[in-house]
Amino acid sequence: MTAQLNPRGDVAVLVPAAGAGVRLGPGGPKALRRIGGEPLLVHAVRRIAAAPSVHTVVVAAPPGDEEAVRALLRPVAALTVVAGGTTRQESVAAALAAVPAGPEIVLVHDAARALTPTALVESVAGAVRGGEDAVVPVLPVVDTIKEVSAAGAVLGTVDRAALRAVQTPQGFRRAVLAAAHAAAVDPLTDDAGLVEKQGVRVTCVPGSEYAMKITRPFDLVLAEHLLTAVPLAGHH
Ligand code: C5P
Repeated sequence: MTAQLNPRGDVAVLVPAAGAGVRLGPGGPKALRRIGGEPLLVHAVRRIAAAPSVHTVVVAAPPGDEEAVRALLRPVAALTVVAGGTTRQESVAAALAAVPAGPEIVLVHDAARALTPTALVESVAGAVRGGEDAVVPVLPVVDTIKEVSAAGAVLGTVDRAALRAVQTPQGFRRAVLAAAHAAAVDPLTDDAGLVEKQGVRVTCVPGSEYAMKITRPFDLVLAEHLLTAVPLAGHH
């Protein structure tokens, strides 16, 4: 059964959170590491669910942990939890299969980007609604990027002006994402990559510093600080 948020919304958001490290209980699972006393997954889902366009949220949980993840998110939003797969791509495909008829825009969002502003969800969805097939939020690359050999020798310097760091949520016309997943062979780290392989144009919208991926211990400290120092962190 699929729970829905806003019946007039036209957006479904898929949240893959079935990584091998993700397990309820004390310690390591990334999507369940806490900032401000709450798991990253809870922060991420709360910000998604606050977006007026969002009709449905589907979370892919580690197989066997669906009920625990459902209980964790029940107070946050009406949503659907499915069992994820062995790769991120399989988890996204399982979540996509659970989207009910209705939403024609599908966003895929990392739970680790817990402070992603609700406004970014709306701007990505808005670009798809405006006619784009596939949309990624991006930031300019601030560091100089070099290509380096396995031995640590610099091979060359990449032209930074042409580079962008890509965040989530990534947004797609539903049929475009479904076709890309149906045709997918090798697992990739993002969904836009699958769509690019289909020869579909992927366009950029401005990302947000708050949509940072909380990956390393430093990021967790920074996110905790942003939450307390900036009470509305991620709301704008
Ligand atoms: O490990 P990585 O950072 O690439 O994971 C990105 C996201 O994909 C995480 O939110 C993780 O929980 C999710 N994932 C998943 N199913 C898997 C592997 C990863 O939903 N089998």
